[in-house]
Amino acid sequence: MATAVAHPNIALVKYWGKQEGDDNVPATPSLSITLGALTTHTRVAAAARDEVQLNGQYTADAKILGLIARLRAAFDLPPVAVRTCNDFPTGAGLASSAAGFAALVTAIDAAFGLGLTPAERSIWARRGSASAARSLFGGFATLAAGNGDWRAAALLHKDAWPLEIVVAVTSTAAKEVSSTAGMARSRATSPFYEAWTRSAGADFEAACRAVAARDFDALAEVAEHSCLKLHALMLATRPALLYWNEATVAAIATVRGLRAAGTPVFFTVDAGPQVKAVCAPGASAAVRAALENTPGVLRAVASGLGEGARVADRNADD
Ligand code: DP6
Repeated sequence: MATAVAHPNIALVKYWGKQEGDDNVPATPSLSITLGALTTHTRVAAAARDEVQLNGQYTADAKILGLIARLRAAFDLPPVAVRTCNDFPTGAGLASSAAGFAALVTAIDAAFGLGLTPAERSIWARRGSASAARSLFGGFATLAAGNGDWRAAALLHKDAWPLEIVVAVTSTAAKEVSSTAGMARSRATSPFYEAWTRSAGADFEAACRAVAARDFDALAEVAEHSCLKLHALMLATRPALLYWNEATVAAIATVRGLRAAGTPVFFTVDAGPQVKAVCAPGASAAVRAALENTPGVLRAVASGLGEGARVADRNADD
């Protein structure tokens, strides 16, 4: 058996939409930061049959069981019991699936000696949930075409530019439309989809340059553009994908107000109602206080950048 830990990541240049085929290959490159303060623990052990417990409840999650079946088709893998726990809300736009699949692949690799490299683990995690490929790596990570396949890669170490993140939680309800279903719907119906995929490469390149130069204003500009362009695409999907609530809008206004007054902070929002405020080093305390005082915000959780997925304790029975 083995236990792995991984953290969610937040995309600053967003992935939304898939290429043809069944290998879960993104249609757009993405760039993310990994959050240290939110953690998923996943333990795997050989068992009589495949079974999955998520936060203490048995689940027949098709994505998790499907990835295990695909791994078994490629490697000598016994039936496995998976126990995974998040210390943050599941399915509410906090990228629980990203941390979950990164931890799952890392734990299976360690428990059964698959001998996968980090790049290979990221490809397997991508097959489970594409954003999960990025949680294999800490700090700043990319998910793009490279070396013949779409895989994640480390872009910059977390200590090289220790940005801080404040997550303004505005709802703990599970989202109504999953990312997978939502992006299929956008691709099929949104008149903006082609423009979205065509323009993503330039955003990705601009963000990579901003990270390399530690240029906060440049990163803020392209990240907010990628976020708002994604939500414009979602709003123009039929039926529309509207993930925001009133507190989401209020929290965005708080961040914009802070930035206009000189605080180095920008916002991003994924397929859910939470607002993630990305702060220059040292700015998160003031941002957290302002977001906690924003009407409708339930709580504000601060985090530094985190490490990539890793084995926690090879033989522990938790
Ligand atoms: C808005 O990785 O959850 O968070 O590959 O279908 O599992 P699947 O989708 P998923 O989508 C994430 C979408 C996003 C943007 C991002 O993380 O890049």
